[in-house]
Amino acid sequence: MTSEMDQQDDTYLVGYGDAAQAWISHRTAESHAAFFTPHLKSGMTLLDCGCGPGGITVGLAAKVAPGAVTAIDIESAQLAKATQRAADEGLTNITFEEANLFDLPYDDNSFDAIYMSAVLSNLQRPHDAMAEVYRVLKPGGVAGFNEFDSGGDIYYPMLPGIQRSTELYFKLREHVGDDPRGGRRLKALLHQAGFQCDLMQAIYEIIEPAHYAHAASVQFEQDLGPTLIDLGLTTEKEIQHMSADWAKFAKHPDAFVGAAWVQALGRKS
Ligand SMILES: C[S@@+](CC[C@H](N)C(=O)[O-])C[C@H]1O[C@@H](n2cnc3c(N)ncnc32)[C@H](O)[C@@H]1O
Repeated sequence: MTSEMDQQDDTYLVGYGDAAQAWISHRTAESHAAFFTPHLKSGMTLLDCGCGPGGITVGLAAKVAPGAVTAIDIESAQLAKATQRAADEGLTNITFEEANLFDLPYDDNSFDAIYMSAVLSNLQRPHDAMAEVYRVLKPGGVAGFNEFDSGGDIYYPMLPGIQRSTELYFKLREHVGDDPRGGRRLKALLHQAGFQCDLMQAIYEIIEPAHYAHAASVQFEQDLGPTLIDLGLTTEKEIQHMSADWAKFAKHPDAFVGAAWVQALGRKS
């Protein structure tokens, strides 16, 4: 279940600031798991790995009810939000558990279905996490992965501060050891773990530009900025220039943002 590598810390760069939460909380099974839900049936057991605030989890749970859903996250505050969301929606078939997906506290071959969204590209050892998912999935079971690939994101107009924000974001991800283009690696990760890959597709999430611009500038000013300055990759002054361009972008009548996601289905034979 565990290996020597599992003992190492994994840095979760996105963090839990308001900007990151604003991104994540609006996601639903309809918006981010439509490729996966047709494979779910009432009565299935399902594991949601890295459930975050639970917006997608509740939609998956409704599909398999009265089947039991286990939703895990490494961060207790995320689980508290997800628990509240499930209660608000009247769902009683979800158990929320604090767990590390590098060392899942479940027996081999435990679940009929497993889902994971926006987690693998945040990990320095995605292949180890994928191996754990493979281990706890039942033979014949299906696993759905929804993963961002920042290399496919589209911004218009590409103002200088936005170009620079993108460059710094990639530099920081690479410094930490994440793969910000992780989505495109899903099929390779699936094959490496032993899965058969039944689907590999890419979609765009169209995001309201002012909302995106606000979250991006808050994230640079508050969450990522201090680390970038400590690493000598930017300065306070440059962050202010970037924020000014995000503010222009937010008001620009022609602004457009498309965020790239790669989605894959893995089957365990
Ligand atoms: C970007 S959020 C995605 C949340 C949700 N799946 C979604 O797409 O809306 C990533 C989540 O993975 C969790 N996470 C990161 N590393 C983890 C680990 N090693 N084990 C379990 N959860 C982890 C984080 O705490 C965070 O809640």
